[in-house]
Amino acid sequence: MIYNTKTNFPENFLWGASTSAYQVEGAVLEDGKSPSIIDMYEHPKDTAGFRIASDYYHRYKEDIQWFAKMGLKAYRFSIAWTRILPEGTGKINQPGVDYYKNIIAECRKYKIEPVVTMYHFDLPYCLEEQGGWNKRETVDAFVEYARVLFEIYGREVTYWLTINEQNTMILHPGAIGLPKGGTLPTKKELYQQNHHMMLAQARVMKLFHKMVRNGKIGPALNLTAMYPASCRPEDAIAAHNWVSIRCWNFADVPVFGTYHPLAFSYMKDRGIAPEILPGDMEILKDADPDFIAMNYYSTATIGASRNDSSDVAARAGDQQIMLGEQGVYRPEENPYVDKTKYGWVIDPVGFRYTLRKVYERYHLPILVTENGIGAPDILEDGKIHDDYRIDFLKKHLIQMKLAIADGVEMIGYCPWAAIDVVSTHQGYKKRYGFIYVDREEFDLKEMKRYPKDSFFWYQKVIAENGKSL
Ligand code: BG6
Repeated sequence: MIYNTKTNFPENFLWGASTSAYQVEGAVLEDGKSPSIIDMYEHPKDTAGFRIASDYYHRYKEDIQWFAKMGLKAYRFSIAWTRILPEGTGKINQPGVDYYKNIIAECRKYKIEPVVTMYHFDLPYCLEEQGGWNKRETVDAFVEYARVLFEIYGREVTYWLTINEQNTMILHPGAIGLPKGGTLPTKKELYQQNHHMMLAQARVMKLFHKMVRNGKIGPALNLTAMYPASCRPEDAIAAHNWVSIRCWNFADVPVFGTYHPLAFSYMKDRGIAPEILPGDMEILKDADPDFIAMNYYSTATIGASRNDSSDVAARAGDQQIMLGEQGVYRPEENPYVDKTKYGWVIDPVGFRYTLRKVYERYHLPILVTENGIGAPDILEDGKIHDDYRIDFLKKHLIQMKLAIADGVEMIGYCPWAAIDVVSTHQGYKKRYGFIYVDREEFDLKEMKRYPKDSFFWYQKVIAENGKSL
């Protein structure tokens, strides 16, 4: 369909932006916080770690004031489990509780809707040492953590996200790093961990609906549409394999309460299906999310496996660079799209396509919780001319508007990131924020904040509710 439409963004559309705790806060061991699994990761020698990050833990008031100046209607941030329950369960850490109370109060002061991620890659390290997500005890621990959050913040926060990018954690476990000396779990272990996270999520959603009457909760997955590399039927089958295993298998469970049939057959065939105990499937049926949150960066192009080891090696990399699997699918190049400096495909039309696919499949409103371009921004005379970011975001927003005209129900758009955060892979060499944090990898300088050109552009987009897009 080609629209010559006057479709506008809905009134009350949540124009937002996102961060995650470990990527902005710093203060990793302050005020009673214990280390999380991601705090223990080993960083490349030339890359900043998370110890100080953007020092938002100490500067959140100034930063939220900047967000208000930009006109944000929503701000998505994550709560660090290790600040609330430093031992994973049990004793509540009051300074941690107060810290997020203050953040929420600051947001409310400026009429910014807080959107809370409960878990963004940062399992308490003490739980990891006891087996982490391999153990069912961690399911109970997550439910306990959730109960504490709902009790304390349930009246103040409407929008909740359970787990950020469960599919990234399971499918690209190496992509988000490894604790020092750690080894990668096997695929069998990963799918068992996945099952436990699914159980945890379902129990938490059920609890949420009891405890937070007017709240809304959803999973936050990295979702993306794919293209078959050609109209060769074998490529179409491979592409279908890919999207089932990479995306639908993770969203079907909370929405439909079942694993995706094709993905489950794949797991059984490879001997990596999880052990499902009696009663588990009933628990999964209880999830009942109110919306789907999705992070979108790139699309994938998939061809038939060549049935040799070259499928895996075709493109190695991080969470947006698709790995192949012998006998299942193979990543291929797409000649019709650009790429970022880091090899991530730039595909705004693919964004519209993904939104359509997700809505058509789940019939749930969508909140975009990440979208953006990482780049080595340059500060010159107090200014950052990030026209590439404006171009990227503008093209994606135009496509989102078309998706709305297509009938997709959208709650809001929270691009990555509200302010510069540590990139999981490239530290401060790769930036995403609307606000520049003046620090280098190791030279912290004064960490002064500067609005980038994209800040002023987004400010205007929000002020006119996207009318001129
Ligand atoms: C998403 C994560 O997958 O990608 C974010 O949810 C992350 O935490 C973002 O920062 C960008 O990835 P990277 O590797 O450039 O930081």
